[in-house]
Amino acid sequence: MLIVKSIARMQQLSLGLPKPVVLVPTMGSLHEGHLALIDRAKKLAGRKGFTVATIFVNPAQFGPKEDFQKYPRPFKRDCRLLQNRGCDLVFAPAVENMYEPDASVTVTESQLQTVMCGVSRPGHFTGVCTIVTKLFLLVQPDLAIFGEKDFQQLTILRRMVRDLNFPVGIIGHPTVRESDGLALSSRNVYLSPEERRQAPLIHQALREAEKELRRQSVSRSALENFIRRQIGQAPAARVDYVAVVDPETLLAKEPSQLPVLLATAVFFGTTRLIDNVLVK
Ligand code: PAF
Repeated sequence: MLIVKSIARMQQLSLGLPKPVVLVPTMGSLHEGHLALIDRAKKLAGRKGFTVATIFVNPAQFGPKEDFQKYPRPFKRDCRLLQNRGCDLVFAPAVENMYEPDASVTVTESQLQTVMCGVSRPGHFTGVCTIVTKLFLLVQPDLAIFGEKDFQQLTILRRMVRDLNFPVGIIGHPTVRESDGLALSSRNVYLSPEERRQAPLIHQALREAEKELRRQSVSRSALENFIRRQIGQAPAARVDYVAVVDPETLLAKEPSQLPVLLATAVFFGTTRLIDNVLVK
């Protein structure tokens, strides 16, 4: 497996990689959820193609009070995991090489980011769109894979690729979960043992809400309240938002018409976890 840190070297290599080139962008601190994306990338690349993972903790997508400094960076371990999974190349540029000190151009999606996580994380999705644009330009992938846990991110990136005519296919991959239902996340390591014990209630609440809406006709606000009440059974949980929305527009939608996305963000202490269930 090649490890590339230089931007110039990545640009040079990207001109001659065997196609299809399949990209998995990550911020490192890899878990089985990321590795499932690598497995999917390997399948899509086939025997002739090439898989690239990027590891870059992107300062532009962290708010001033968020965890950029303490975000885990176990680079050697990550490389070992990627190599064991058969990834062909890791691109891991340094922050100071990715962003000029006076960088003044960004990529902003202006509709889908005004709801859900975009409300409590202003600027976050501009940071994501900007770095993903830069990674696409540097690696020149044919396909890029993103986890469905970050459903809003996936929706925004699909819109970005559509509106800016990027020649990159965006693939969503199902969320990988612990056996108790908690969605895998690099941030789960911040949870205290007690918070970790309570955190699976997030997914249970979304699943119960799905059952509820399949059992009887229920309004959007009643369903959102139902989810809030369920999550409220975890004493350490503080709900940031609960949303029942159209999965393409992310606009509020009555659940009498499927599909709907049930999505939530919940704080346990300072750790913010997100999850969602798509009801089709
Ligand atoms: O989902 C993530 O890990 C990040 O938002 C991404 C897509 C790698 C961009 O930094």
